[in-house]
Amino acid sequence: MNGAVAPPPPPRPVEVPDLAAYRLLHARSLADPEGFWRERIARFRWNRPPDRVLEGDGPAARWFPGGRLNVSENALDRWVDDGHGNAAALLWESEAVDAWRRPEEVRRFTFRELRDAVALLAGALRALGVEAGDRVTICLPIVPELPIAMLACARLGAVHNVVFAGFPAQALLDRIEDSQSRVVITADGGFRNGKPFPLKSVVDTAARRTPLVQRVLVLRRTGEPVAWTPGRDHWWHEAIDAATPAAPVPVASDATHFLMYTSGSTGKPKGIAHGTAGYMVQAALTALHAFDLRPGDVGWCTADPAWITGHTYTVYGPLLSGAATVICEGPLGFPDWDRAWDVVERHRPSVLHSTPTLIRAWIRQGDAGLRVRDLSSLRLLASVGEPINPTVWRWFREVVGGGRLPVVDTWWQTEAGAAMIFPFPYATPARPGSATLPFFGVEAGIADAEGRLLEGEAAGQLVIRRPWPGMLQGIWGDPRRCHDTYWSSVPGAFVTGDAARRDGDGCIWLLGRTDDVIKVNGHRIGTAEIEGAAVAHPAVSESAVVGLPDERSGEAILVFAVLHPGQEASAEVERGIVRSVEEKVGRLARPREVRFLPALPKNRSGKILRRLLREWAITGRVSGDVTTLDDSSALPA
Ligand code: WTA
Repeated sequence: MNGAVAPPPPPRPVEVPDLAAYRLLHARSLADPEGFWRERIARFRWNRPPDRVLEGDGPAARWFPGGRLNVSENALDRWVDDGHGNAAALLWESEAVDAWRRPEEVRRFTFRELRDAVALLAGALRALGVEAGDRVTICLPIVPELPIAMLACARLGAVHNVVFAGFPAQALLDRIEDSQSRVVITADGGFRNGKPFPLKSVVDTAARRTPLVQRVLVLRRTGEPVAWTPGRDHWWHEAIDAATPAAPVPVASDATHFLMYTSGSTGKPKGIAHGTAGYMVQAALTALHAFDLRPGDVGWCTADPAWITGHTYTVYGPLLSGAATVICEGPLGFPDWDRAWDVVERHRPSVLHSTPTLIRAWIRQGDAGLRVRDLSSLRLLASVGEPINPTVWRWFREVVGGGRLPVVDTWWQTEAGAAMIFPFPYATPARPGSATLPFFGVEAGIADAEGRLLEGEAAGQLVIRRPWPGMLQGIWGDPRRCHDTYWSSVPGAFVTGDAARRDGDGCIWLLGRTDDVIKVNGHRIGTAEIEGAAVAHPAVSESAVVGLPDERSGEAILVFAVLHPGQEASAEVERGIVRSVEEKVGRLARPREVRFLPALPKNRSGKILRRLLREWAITGRVSGDVTTLDDSSALPA
């Protein structure tokens, strides 16, 4: 392949040692899914094996129907029973470090210890009334108790709904209400950038606005004082003291395993529901094939377990593979970006899996710190979440990977459950900037704007042409919306919302979103949510939000606002809009800039032309067809 970087030889035998082996297996996974997946699911523990691999099609597809299993048993008990109980499962360190940059706290769990902690918490949750199928909202800082809470829910067959600990009360409330969670797991607070932040008070604010929340389980982390509602609130340490360990509860393959709220093109985040068996199989098998994680290995995925990447590759993927996972409290920039190299030196992961945003931060930090540390444990580097530009890719490989290590750029999304398009590290020639080729069972396609599938070299909408194991089960509480959002515009295919180009070798190059979703610091944010928060400001009548290229955050948020008649643009209104976005959507959606316009450019049917606004903001001009513009004076010349 042209311009490709040859894959290194595998350091130990792998199932897919070269491109020919990949092509053969991938072709077989499409031609004979029943036989292909049947062979691969024997490695998991089933209480009842599935009757079939796949039933139904499109959004109604069901993976491994008839099967019964428990994910926490597959992630934990099974390794303990297989004699790996004393192997490391979870390696955690605090954000606070001493003068020698050593973390003030390090906690290590073996598979047995983690299994026992999970079983005990599951017993405590059961005593609080949690049963299979119940939704439990988890809002915890990055502490071992976060994966423990997720796995404890899974142990009971309950559905976890993890919410990022930096969200404002309103965003938390929306997610509690939409998921109908009666139980919330939280902490008094957490630590970020060297300071404690409150969490219980955010949960209290959300819970005051709904009659739904009946139990709040509170972990003591910071020791800061918290308000207490007797009868509703329970300390974690007291609840587990009184609990008896719970055994795994087998559930149906297509029982909902978890919800993950994510942004789309409407103002309301959608609860992406993932099932049990299909998600487990793809999470585990991609952890093996993309990252070569096996029993006894240590993987480090820098993603907060609260996001989909953290679910799949900080928590489930490694543990389902019998590998240990490294988890660090707080953002990695404290005390500075060299902390990452301290972590590698201390915990000796073989895999470092990160995001382009973080890699760019490491580039800015400079390589002096990493050059004096021992990174010799690393065997493989990976990136996810945003397009990685070739310069950043090369820096990662050359400077962190010593020019030897494979760099696995993985494309996927919340809806996908697990990695979908990536180079097999020892088989696929890597292309800096391309996610390359699809995983087993994934049939990627390119469609034009009318929804027609294109053959050969082509650019257009990236679609997935058939169901895949880790696929979303649906949008929680709204099955119609799932069909309409993803499965309706290209016949028989799932529309990803990404634009992509397929080159002559079949490699996929991601070109960004086709909808109104932007990626800020790797976080997926819907422009409509920010616009909703902007117009909640009393002076604002209309708003449009676009993402601008930004070296630090990937994309930065620019808010255009139109004011009500009689309102004056001012620094105060601007601050008010920023505050409203922070309160309603969260600090991660903090706009970089607000610009005031007399009107928004719209087409004749009233749709805001964000594309024009974006182009105008970047280049100062608009090109192309503006004949559909309703009011050409909307954009100052
Ligand atoms: C983008 C994160 C280019 C893409 C796993 C996708 C990427 C969205 C890549 C999903 C990549 C993810 N190259 N773009 N390797 N990986 N994206 O739901 O636009 O937070 O649709 O899932 O991130 O974001 P989400």
